[in-house]
Amino acid sequence: MRLKDKVAIISGAGMGMGREAALVFAAEGAMVAVFDLNDAAASETVAAVEARGGRALKVVGDVSKEADVKRAVDAAVKEFGRLDILYANAGVLWKDRDKSVIETTEENWDIVQAVNLKGPFFLTKHGIPQLQKSGGGSIILVGSISALVGFTLAQDSYTCAKGALISLAKSLAVQFGPDKIRCNIIHPGMVDTPLQAPYLNAEKKKAIGDSLPLMRLGTPRDIANLALFLASDESCWITGAEIVIDGGFIAT
Ligand SMILES: NC(=O)c1ccc[n+]([C@@H]2O[C@H](COP(=O)([O-])OP(=O)(O)OC[C@H]3O[C@@H](n4cnc5c(N)ncnc54)[C@H](O)[C@@H]3O)[C@@H](O)[C@H]2O)c1
Repeated sequence: MRLKDKVAIISGAGMGMGREAALVFAAEGAMVAVFDLNDAAASETVAAVEARGGRALKVVGDVSKEADVKRAVDAAVKEFGRLDILYANAGVLWKDRDKSVIETTEENWDIVQAVNLKGPFFLTKHGIPQLQKSGGGSIILVGSISALVGFTLAQDSYTCAKGALISLAKSLAVQFGPDKIRCNIIHPGMVDTPLQAPYLNAEKKKAIGDSLPLMRLGTPRDIANLALFLASDESCWITGAEIVIDGGFIAT
């Protein structure tokens, strides 16, 4: 019970890494606000948590809309009485519309920024005062290996949004450390989730997996386990850190 009695809000917890984190956090004793744009997916996550004996609350909304994020934070506090963990996980990857700067429209650039960068801004803006009331807490931002290296198949808005989150993580770590609020950013490599599904078939998955030192793609559980460590008091002296979790991609 590494998160016993803690309350977490996880954006994008309807699918992929966010759903897995909701299951893992709840199994470790946390109460979880499942915040997602997709009503049916969020319901499935809540049902899966409850089926395993955990507690979860569904909040449907868009992380890029401040009113929705505020409503989600308020709902979590109303339901569970406090907030300890902010996991800003929701993100979109639009490889078909977010490409190189010379190909991407302003509108598509802005939407990708709104979800991937403004979403974490809103979640931390409304969540941090609640962590302060709780006497501390842990914030987990989700970057990407694409913020660390260039790729010939560019997704420049995504890359820039994820890169900006590195700066935000360090800024929040420094500002709120004295309040016992930690903020770290994780950089996943390629993880087999619904986000990547449109761009991967079995053959591509195998080829990419084989190219990595650890010889496979990541799983949502790989990422949820790292998030669990950062959410828990086991990581109580880690803040402002960037943690790469990529099967060794960056090392090659
Ligand atoms: N999968 C990868 O290979 C990979 C690699 C690096 C980083 N990431 C990042 O990890 C995070 C999770 O990715 P994933 O692969 O689990 O994604 P996913 O697409 O499988 O799941 C994302 C969830 O976020 C929700 N969501 C999307 N837009 C939203 C919005 N505006 N408001 C609220 N909810 C919204 C979706 O409905 C979905 O349930 C993202 O930030 C992503 O950029 C993923």
